[in-house]
Amino acid sequence: MTSAVDTDLQAGFDATIAAGDRIEPRDWMPEGYRRTLVRQIAQHAHSEIIGMQPEGNWITRAPSLRRKAILLAKVQDEAGHGLYLYSACETLGVSREDLTRQLIAGAQKYSSIFNYPALSYADVGTIGWLVDGAAICNQVPLCRTSYGPYGRSMIRICKEESFHQRQGFELLATMMRGTDEQRAMVQESVDRFWKPALMMFGPPDSQSSNTEQSMAWGIKRHTNDELRERFIEMTAPQAAALGVTLPDNDLDWDEFWTVVKGGGPCSAQRIAHRKRAYDDGAWVREAAMAFAQSEVDGLAQRVSRDQEADR
Ligand code: 3HC
Repeated sequence: MTSAVDTDLQAGFDATIAAGDRIEPRDWMPEGYRRTLVRQIAQHAHSEIIGMQPEGNWITRAPSLRRKAILLAKVQDEAGHGLYLYSACETLGVSREDLTRQLIAGAQKYSSIFNYPALSYADVGTIGWLVDGAAICNQVPLCRTSYGPYGRSMIRICKEESFHQRQGFELLATMMRGTDEQRAMVQESVDRFWKPALMMFGPPDSQSSNTEQSMAWGIKRHTNDELRERFIEMTAPQAAALGVTLPDNDLDWDEFWTVVKGGGPCSAQRIAHRKRAYDDGAWVREAAMAFAQSEVDGLAQRVSRDQEADR
């Protein structure tokens, strides 16, 4: 039975969304809206953290100190993006610990792209150029998403992604001015990453179970196919400037769903790595909590002593 109060609350929420305004953590929201946000923001955050793995593998093998410094900065940025997004997700009443447990248990997803291996150094450039380029295409509209903390987290993330995309393009352009072997390495990398990058935007609109409702709630501002098309149009002239060719755009959606369901080339490895890092970091979390508790206890003792002294 819907009460008059519930009806008013729903009407207020609907009016805020219709006006293109923001829903903030303390505002009333439909449970479905909250659940959809938790699902999408958690997946986004997980993607940032898992996405550190393929590029992180190349930090020790970067060909120069400059390239190593750039790659270190980028991978550190991704950790920060995960931090902002987990923080935004926590405003919806979930804990980072629980989200991480759901990721490790396979109950929450991360972007399919990170289940493909980074096999050559050119992949570091291609990931920056295509994967971060696709992320920018997807994330700029999210700066206008209806949930306040999510939209605000996107502003800094998008600025840093622009650096990520530019450094990737510059790395590839440098290799394309190099030897025949380097040019071949770049083209082989682009051939491997182009279609998985297009799949980052999600399944075709006809197979997207969430898009209609997410757009009605102002969570998504465009459909998957719209953003995919926008990315293709943006990337084609860049490929021409680089001197690489892009494979055709026929996508194998069976491959996509297999990867999404955990059957990607690196799916098991990525989760095993994440679990190991989480387990290895348990002592750091315990020490931080013990220190925080001792601080709280110390403060309580000082307050109690002061109150005694005032009596
Ligand atoms: N990888 C894994 N799962 C995917 C996926 C992908 N690329 N695309 C879609 N899916 C899943 C969805 O999660 C959904 O499953 P669920 O209902 O169990 O969660 C199902 O496939 C159907 O897809 P929908 O289109 O209905 O799902 P969404 O409406 O959530 O749209 C999305 C998918 C476009 C990825 C949307 O979630 C989104 O915009 N997310 C925010 C952006 C994001 O997560 N980007 C990931 C990359 S972050 C990154 O690249 C880091 C950068 O620094 C490199």
